Amino acid sequence: MDLLHHMLAPVREARSLRYFEQAGSANDLAVAWIREGAPAGAVVLTDTQTSGHGRLGREWFAPAGTALLFSYILYLPAELAAQSTMLGALVVAELCETLGIPGVGIKYPNDVQIGARKVCGVLPEAVALPEHMGIALGIGLNVRVNFAGTPLQNTAISLEHALGRPLNRAELLDTLTRQLDHWREHIPEGGVYRAWHSRLNMLGQTVSIDTGGERLQGIAESVRDDGALMLRLPGGEVRIVTAGDLVVARAG
Ligand code: BTN
Repeated sequence: MDLLHHMLAPVREARSLRYFEQAGSANDLAVAWIREGAPAGAVVLTDTQTSGHGRLGREWFAPAGTALLFSYILYLPAELAAQSTMLGALVVAELCETLGIPGVGIKYPNDVQIGARKVCGVLPEAVALPEHMGIALGIGLNVRVNFAGTPLQNTAISLEHALGRPLNRAELLDTLTRQLDHWREHIPEGGVYRAWHSRLNMLGQTVSIDTGGERLQGIAESVRDDGALMLRLPGGEVRIVTAGDLVVARAG
């Protein structure tokens, strides 16, 4: 077993944890565990993934030993399920702030950024159950992925590179999962939405968004609690955009 495995005792004390040195996808394993009746707060952690998924059908890969790749299980009423993405991005942004990293923000819909570089992606995958939704909240956090010389070198960053010192991934996981336990209780009263919205870094800016068939450009005015973006088009009309890939065009 590897180094990460030996440091997980504090996480195991607080929750059910399934750890794999290598897996296809932590989210896939968490979805299967939800179907078996996983408890809320359970976590699937893997050191590397062979078929990790990102948003919009993209792949998500990190070499062994370089990232935190996990899926946190929670249960929400269907009408609040969209806020699971907010929950994931919020706890990672908060972690970065607590570490003292400057320039932390959230780019709609699910990227945590340091400056304009992505440090983390969040991907919830939902299972419809009779009473509510089971959610495998996938989090991929770059801890010491080296992007130098790769196509991502100007758009991605790792925590250790931003901070200039080594970090312990098991401790980061313990902090993140405890904060997920804490904040998930605040979803129904809007606390997660407000804390997430206050960290959005593209509001008031001119953005362009590919909604899958149509590319819209306008000013990002706000994001509703159901996750829909309010985009003011050049003619003044406000369009409600529910999905897409957003690029910040220029400061507004
Ligand atoms: C994104 O595209 O930004 C979302 C990336 C989410 C990656 C994480 S890694 C753990 C979990 N398992 C997966 O297959 N994907 C998520």
